[in-house]
Order: sequence, then structure tokens, then C-alpha cells
Amino acid sequence: MIHVRAAGTDDVEQVLELWSVAGENDDRPADDRDVVLALLTRDPQALLLAEEDGELVGTVVAGWGGWRAHLYRLAVHPGHRRRGIASALLRAAEERLVGLGARRLDAMVLEGNVDGQALWARAGFGPQERWRRWVRPTG
Ligand SMILES: CC(C)(COP(=O)(O)OP(=O)(O)OC[C@H]1O[C@@H](n2cnc3c(N)ncnc32)[C@H](O)[C@@H]1OP(=O)(O)O)[C@@H](O)C(=O)NCCC(=O)NCCS
Repeated sequence: MIHVRAAGTDDVEQVLELWSVAGENDDRPADDRDVVLALLTRDPQALLLAEEDGELVGTVVAGWGGWRAHLYRLAVHPGHRRRGIASALLRAAEERLVGLGARRLDAMVLEGNVDGQALWARAGFGPQERWRRWVRPTG
């Protein structure tokens, strides 16, 4: 039985461990304890965890900046995939974000991430071909 709940500060180490084996970790700033704690301070409901028998098996960040909704860090433990855990996390994330006023959800998906693309497509997402994200590090 999969249970989805918001993460607390006690969960941070386990979340980082999960991301180290399950996350899409290429081409992004490294996540560490401080950035996750900063997220939980800013928005204590943003990081959703999926648990099975008390074991952490998946995560998603359902981010709401008061303007747009963004999904980050959707990750499911490799030993627990294709059992609907990401789908359950997305349902919970959508419920939260729609409740906050979101009219659209988005996610950054690496080109070449075949598993991720299959998941997002199945969940009804599609690439926005006319846009590219422009970025630079701060500082
Ligand atoms: C992508 C990921 C989150 C999917 O998690 P999951 O719990 O296995 O996904 P679900 O079981 O909810 O899958 C729902 C549907 O998505 C599709 N899907 C998910 N993974 C798939 C895969 N590897 N290949 C093909 N289709 C896939 C299927 O249609 C699946 O339904 P089905 O199993 O009935 O065929 C997981 O593979 C993962 O953590 N990957 C590494 C991190 C990552 O890439 N995250 C996405 C970042 S953009």
C-alpha cells in the first residue's frame, strides 16, 4: 500500500539518499541538505514522499511560487518502478497545486530520458516545442 505525505525535516537525509540512486541527476545544480531544508522552510508541503510499509520509495517536489506550478525531483527507487508510485505522487502533487490555484503543471525533462518521457507522456504531459529554458548560475 503506497502512502503519500509531505516530508518533514527528519526526512531530508533519506530523501538525499534516494535521489542519489533514483534521481535524474545530470545537468542540474547539486542538491544537499541545506537546499532541501530551505525548501521545507519556504513551503513545508512542497516535498511529497511516497512510502510503502514505512520505506521511502519515491518523491516529487510540487512547487508553487504563487504564479506558476512546477514539478521537480520525481524519482522512484529502482526496485519499486512500474508499480504506479510516480503516478500516485503526480496525483497528490496535482491535487495540491490545483488547490493553490495552478492552471497548468510543468516539468523539466532531459532529452534522452526515455523512462521519464514515457511517464510524463502517460500522465498527459507533452513537450512545448516553441520554448527553450534560458539559464545561468547565480553569482
Ligand atoms: C520515471 C519514473 C519516475 C517512473 O516511476 P514509476 O513509479 O515507475 O512510474 P509508474 O509506475 O507510475 O508508471 C506509469 C506509467 O508511465 C509509463 N512508464 C513509466 N516508466 C516507464 C518506462 N521505464 N518505460 C516505459 N513506460 C514507462 C507507463 O505507461 C506506466 O504505466 P504501466 O506501468 O501501466 O505501463 C522512474 O522511472 C524514475 O524514478 N526514473 C529516474 C528519475 C527520472 O527520470 N525522473 C523523471 C525526471 S523528468
